[in-house]
Amino acid sequence: MLILGIDTSCDDTSASVVEDGKRILSNIVSSQEDIHKKYGGIVPELASRRHIEMIWPVVDEALKSANTKLDELSAVAVCYGPGLIGSLLVGCSFAKSVCFSKGIPLVSVNHIEGHIFSSFLDEGGPLVDKGFAQGAPEFPFISLIVSGGHTSLYRVDGFRRYKELGRTRDDAAGEAYDKVAKLLGLGYPGGPAIDRLAHEGNPAAVDFPRAYLPGDFDFSFSGLKTAVLNFLRTKVGSRKPNAELRTLNSELVKDICASFQQAVVDVLVRKTEWAAKEEKVRRVTISGGVGANSALRRELALMAKKGGLQLFIPPAALCTDNAAMIAAAAYHHFITHDIAGMELNPVAYLPL
Ligand code: KG4
Ligand code: ZN
Repeated sequence: MLILGIDTSCDDTSASVVEDGKRILSNIVSSQEDIHKKYGGIVPELASRRHIEMIWPVVDEALKSANTKLDELSAVAVCYGPGLIGSLLVGCSFAKSVCFSKGIPLVSVNHIEGHIFSSFLDEGGPLVDKGFAQGAPEFPFISLIVSGGHTSLYRVDGFRRYKELGRTRDDAAGEAYDKVAKLLGLGYPGGPAIDRLAHEGNPAAVDFPRAYLPGDFDFSFSGLKTAVLNFLRTKVGSRKPNAELRTLNSELVKDICASFQQAVVDVLVRKTEWAAKEEKVRRVTISGGVGANSALRRELALMAKKGGLQLFIPPAALCTDNAAMIAAAAYHHFITHDIAGMELNPVAYLPL
């Protein structure tokens, strides 16, 4: 069974063909980094315009790389939220018109559900991350979804059986990465740049705060972001630290990156560990762009090994936004006859 997945929820145009909810035949992601970089963040209007230009070429490439045609598809699956409304609209309108004109069933998928199901994709071939659990996780499992727009912990008892244990009360972890990177003049997106520089810095150089918020599984990252800002102000004595950073020696920037990253990773790893313990669940999965972070992957693996937990981490390319995860989740909708109608509309704020 072949499903074409489409994701245009944010700033990447992605299409993928997945067989039986797990085997990736193609997964094309067209990044918009070049157009948003100079603004230091995503400009929604520019994002939706670029999606309009790219949606057909990306879908066409996904079909060709998978050596298939629209007529051979069992369904077309589209992410309908949460996300940027203009961006979502492009994917939804495109998917609806293809399904209407070709008579193909349409499946609608929540973006977060897609991230949860990225762990169900086969990770064979060169993408295998050695040392992590292989194959799809059995239920129940704890899922840490950590991206530019979301930071949540879910307990997953089965398809459609999701319980949110906690979520960020302010910034998402990826958002904190992006904002701190902006302060440091490192460009957008900030996560990969900070991850790279952190390798060469000292994670104990600056003792940034960790908001553990004991008593529940919520997160908070805005205080950490402010702590980095305040630290920079005292160091460079300016209200606009990013403009002054050119004069800061790069060793300090590396130490700030490493210390900031350590504070984020400590909180994410500890709270995931506590959630597994309290829920008495032995399996943990992770997804979302920050799931590509090398320190987070390493420390989660250590935590899992120490605690005897099974850890499922998709390759970095399946943690960041992609359409294969949409097709993977769609498979479960399709086999349970959950088909969307032509009245489908995108929803910017869509709870799971
Ligand atoms: O899941 P995603 O691709 O899009 C959203 O749904 O938000 O996540 C994008 C976020 C950005 O904030 C980006 O800075 C962050 O993921 N990110 C990383 C890394 N790669 C991407 N954060 C930390 N380390 C990374 N290696
Ligand atoms: Zn995402």
